[in-house]
Amino acid sequence: MNDTFDLLIRRASIIDGTGATRRPGDIGIRGDRIAAIGDLSHARGVQEIDLGGRVAAPGFIDAHTHDDRALLSSPDMTPKVSQGITTVITGNCGISLAPTPRAVPRPVTPPLNLLDDEGGWFRFERFGDYVQALREQPAATNCALLVGHTTLRVGTMDALDRVATDDEQAQMRALVDDALSSGAIGVSTGLFYETAVAATTEEVIEVCRPLGEHGGIYCTHMRDEADRIVDSLEETFRIGRETHAPVVISHHKLVGQGNYGRSSETLALIEKRMGEQRVCLDCYPYTAGSTILSADRAATSSRVLVTWSKALPQHAGRDLVDIARDMGVDEAEAIKRLDPAGAIYFRMDEGDVQRILRFGPTMIGSDGLPHDTAPHPRLWGAFPRVLGHYGRVLGLFPMETAVHKMTGLTAQNFGLRDRGVLREGAYADLTLFDPDTVGEAATYEHPMAPAHGIDTVIVNGVVVWRNGQGTGARPGRVLTHEAA
Ligand code: ZN
Ligand code: CU
Repeated sequence: MNDTFDLLIRRASIIDGTGATRRPGDIGIRGDRIAAIGDLSHARGVQEIDLGGRVAAPGFIDAHTHDDRALLSSPDMTPKVSQGITTVITGNCGISLAPTPRAVPRPVTPPLNLLDDEGGWFRFERFGDYVQALREQPAATNCALLVGHTTLRVGTMDALDRVATDDEQAQMRALVDDALSSGAIGVSTGLFYETAVAATTEEVIEVCRPLGEHGGIYCTHMRDEADRIVDSLEETFRIGRETHAPVVISHHKLVGQGNYGRSSETLALIEKRMGEQRVCLDCYPYTAGSTILSADRAATSSRVLVTWSKALPQHAGRDLVDIARDMGVDEAEAIKRLDPAGAIYFRMDEGDVQRILRFGPTMIGSDGLPHDTAPHPRLWGAFPRVLGHYGRVLGLFPMETAVHKMTGLTAQNFGLRDRGVLREGAYADLTLFDPDTVGEAATYEHPMAPAHGIDTVIVNGVVVWRNGQGTGARPGRVLTHEAA
C-alpha cells in the first residue's frame, strides 16, 4: 500500500457534511481527490497540516451569489475563500453576465448594474463564451452557473415593461437551451424587479421549458416576499411542476412589519409541497437585505444604508437619513441625487430569520454583492456567522447541522457530484477551522474583513487560503450538474 499523500491532514475532528456527528481522524489527499480517511498516523505527506483536534469540513458551497463577474475580475475571490467557501452558485435573481446577444444598454439597466455598472464585462454573446473564459482564467473557487431570465430579456427585447411576444419567448428558450448545453446548471428569475415584473408565469414557463430535458434547476427571487408571498410561492411551485424542474426559493424571507412572523405559514406550505415535488430554499443570516436603491424599498425599511452611488460615491457606507439631512432635502430627493446606487434595507424580523435558518432543508447562501463600495456584511461574513453566532452562540443547531446546510445538502440539491462531503474518492474541497472561535468579523460599520477561525481552505487539493492570507493559487473549475 502506498502511504504517501500529497497533502496529509493529521488529528482532525471530521465533520463530513452529511450531518453525522464529528469523529477524530486523518485525511490523505492525492491530486484533486481525498484518497483516504481514518487513522493515517503511519503515513506521510509531502505537505502536512496538524489540526490538533480542530475541525476539517467539506469546503462551503455558497448557494446564492452574484459572483459572475468577480470570478473574472477578482479571481482570488478573497471575500469568499476567507470565510471557507470553495464553490459559488452564480447568476441568481435573474441576472447573469451571459449571454448578451445584443449589446447591454448604457447606463446598464438596473439590477444588471449590480454585476457591472460600467457594462464592459457584458461581453459574452453566447453562454459558452463565458464558460470558456472561466476555464481559461480560473478563479480560486469552483463555480456552478445559472442563466438569468432578466439578462435574456435585456438581450432579446426592446422594452421590458411588457410580456415577451411568442417570438421573443422562443428566442429566450433557444438561449436557455444553448446555455444548458454549454455548462449552465439552471435558470434564475428575478420577478420582483422592474425588468421582469411584466413577465407572466406563462412567459417564465415557456422560457424555462428546456430545464426538464436537461435536468436543470429553477431558482427564483420571487415576485413578492411581502403581503403576497403565498401567491408567489404557489407561482414558483407551478413553474417547477410545468417545467419538470426542482425549484429553489432564493433568500427566503418576509419583508415588512405586517408580515413579521409569517415564516411559520410559509415554511408549513413549503414543507407540504416538498412532499409533492422537488423544492429547495436558501437563506442569509441577517435581518437586512441589499440591492439597488429605490424609494419604495426605502419607505418600507426601518433603516437604510447606502452601499454605493455612481453619482455621489462619497456617500457609500452612510445612513440615508444622514445624507438627506446634510443635503437639506427629504429622503426621496436624496435618493434621486444618489441614483444609480445600492442600499442595505433593514426590514425583516429576527424571529423569522432564525426559524428559516433552523428549518431542516434550508441551505446557506450569502447573496453578497462583490462590487459594492460598502457592501452588506453578508459578502464576507454569512457562513462564519451561521457557524459562530447562530450555531455556537445562540445554539440554533449543532455545528454538524450548520455544516450540512452549507455543504452536503447544497451539493445534493444542485447535483454537484462528489462535492460537499468528506469521503474517500470525493474531490478535495476542504475548510479547516477552529470551532471555538469561528465567526464573522464583518459588520455593517466595517463590512470588509476576513472571518475569524478559518485556518486553511483547499480547492481541488490545492491550498488557496492559509493563516489569514490567500496563496494566489486558482484551482477553481466550472462545475456542471449530474442529471437527476
Ligand atoms: Zn435576490
Ligand atoms: Cu440575489
